[in-house]
Amino acid sequence: MAKLGAILTFYILLSCFISMAEKVGTEKDKALQLAPLSKSTNSTGAVVVSVKNVKKKYGKKLVLDDVSFDISAGEIFGLLGSNGAGKSTITKIITGLENQSEGKVVYYSGKPVNLKGKIAIVPQAISAYLNSSVEENMRFFASLTNLTKEMQKKRIEYLLSWLQIDGFRKMPVEYLSGGYQRLLNIALSLISDPEIIFFDEPTVGLDPGMRKMFWKKIIELENLNKTIIITTHYMDEAEHLCSKITLLKNGKVVAYGAPKELILEYGGPSILQVNTKNPVDTVTLELLRKKLGPIPVEYVNKTINISMKNNQLFEQIVGVLDEIAQKKFVISSVDLKRATLEDVFINITGSKMGEA
Ligand SMILES: Nc1ncnc2c1ncn2[C@@H]1O[C@H](COP(=O)(O)OP(=O)(O)OP(=O)(O)O)[C@@H](O)[C@H]1O
Ligand SMILES: [Mg+2]
Repeated sequence: MAKLGAILTFYILLSCFISMAEKVGTEKDKALQLAPLSKSTNSTGAVVVSVKNVKKKYGKKLVLDDVSFDISAGEIFGLLGSNGAGKSTITKIITGLENQSEGKVVYYSGKPVNLKGKIAIVPQAISAYLNSSVEENMRFFASLTNLTKEMQKKRIEYLLSWLQIDGFRKMPVEYLSGGYQRLLNIALSLISDPEIIFFDEPTVGLDPGMRKMFWKKIIELENLNKTIIITTHYMDEAEHLCSKITLLKNGKVVAYGAPKELILEYGGPSILQVNTKNPVDTVTLELLRKKLGPIPVEYVNKTINISMKNNQLFEQIVGVLDEIAQKKFVISSVDLKRATLEDVFINITGSKMGEA
């Protein structure tokens, strides 16, 4: 028991450690001084945008059907769904670029207010003038705000350095790589120091390193209590970043809540995969199944897959495995395949993202 327990505990601790390391990174980020961007004064957790029973028709086509959700201050909120689900349409309605056919959107800052001036969009397409330099674009966008000249300068310098594009300041935007053009997009959108920031598919087409950097920057903005709304097709991105998501399908909300809770409710079982050095014979497998009772056990390619509906079963499984493994087979490694947001999507919509 002690030996197998130790192996399994090691794997579980390792995965906890990785997620803790990510958290520690986040804590460190918290310490970063992002001035002269201001910390949002909206108290964390308070609703800042409430979408109430919104319907949208284009001609006779109903593209949003009774959509309701709340977005809270200081959270990263995910709008998920396949192509054509209605993500951009609801985003345009929230940001005032489109009108809804029915329902309403209410903005709060303590009480209902007009927050439209405090909202920024970071689009997927580059919003800068391609022939002008990075710095010229920044100056132009800053001149459109009502910041003092001194503050404009400070904010430009700050954003260039925070987003690591100061080395390219004299370069015409057309010569920047796609990733750096997208970083410039963020800089241009943040010049006005918005309270609520929409990121439209922020990491599509980025390499893994750049993707991680975008995530880090988004988390740093969250640490300033900014409210972030991202539309994404990437389930791992939503799971990593978002504290709450709305999943749209054909204009309808089919899931709404915290990723962890949705995974628990709709994600299905986690699978404990026990890889063995030698093949496990059918008699041993039957013994294993008998001892584990209703817990499903499958055996494929020298891997025993045990479905865990909840983590409380873990101790029982370790006990049984340990008892049998000592005598009947040798364990080479153990993996825990957790249910993910991707599983939630498949279980709710009946298809994979992109097929729904
Ligand atoms: N201006 C428009 N006129 C008519 N139909 C439109 C218009 N804009 C969007 N639609 C339709 O509304 C539906 C929702 O589109 P929307 O762009 O909101 O989807 P999306 O979830 O953002 O998709 P994607 O992931 O491809 O960006 C689609 O069927 C689309 O064809
Ligand atoms: Mg869209």
